[in-house]
Amino acid sequence: MSHLLELALASGRVTNPPGRSSLHGEDHWKSVALLGLELARHTRRSDLRFIYSFAVLHDLCRENDGDDLQHGLRAAHLFDGLVADGYECPWAADLSYAIAHHVGSGRAPADVDVNVGLCWDADRLNLWRVGIRPHNEYLTTRAARTKQAQSYALMLWLRRYENEPLPSWDEIREVMYPCQTMTSTAS
Ligand SMILES: [Fe+2]
Ligand SMILES: [Fe+2]
Repeated sequence: MSHLLELALASGRVTNPPGRSSLHGEDHWKSVALLGLELARHTRRSDLRFIYSFAVLHDLCRENDGDDLQHGLRAAHLFDGLVADGYECPWAADLSYAIAHHVGSGRAPADVDVNVGLCWDADRLNLWRVGIRPHNEYLTTRAARTKQAQSYALMLWLRRYENEPLPSWDEIREVMYPCQTMTSTAS
């Protein structure tokens, strides 16, 4: 399991732990990480650890699979608590913003960190899983509006539909930041 996920679970604030939801559960979080990685390859100033952390945390505080509009704010509160308890994170404010406002927002504002838009786009490109084709007007980054990204998102959904297992968190992390050791601050 992801160390960051373990930290979050230990906080006692997670209402959507692994295994609870098929729509907003662990396969979705991994798909967001993999899509974010794909978008980051084509985007300047992208930060893979930022994207990985968003993918792990953003839906942990859902209370249901419906219109739970406050789940982003609750997940951001959880993350802020981890930082307050010593979790080292160089862009904590930007990540907290990305988590808090990922629900129902349009494109990311132009004046926020580029990784905010990358994370929201990676989440939206996962809408194939509920039968929704992601529309370009709601996507922030140029990378997400390409046929390549859309095709990759569709391929990931088909893989889940066929019950093919996604990579483990360790495998995803090794791809996303291979030069860092597996310490608590690097996960
Ligand atoms: Fe969400
Ligand atoms: Fe999500």
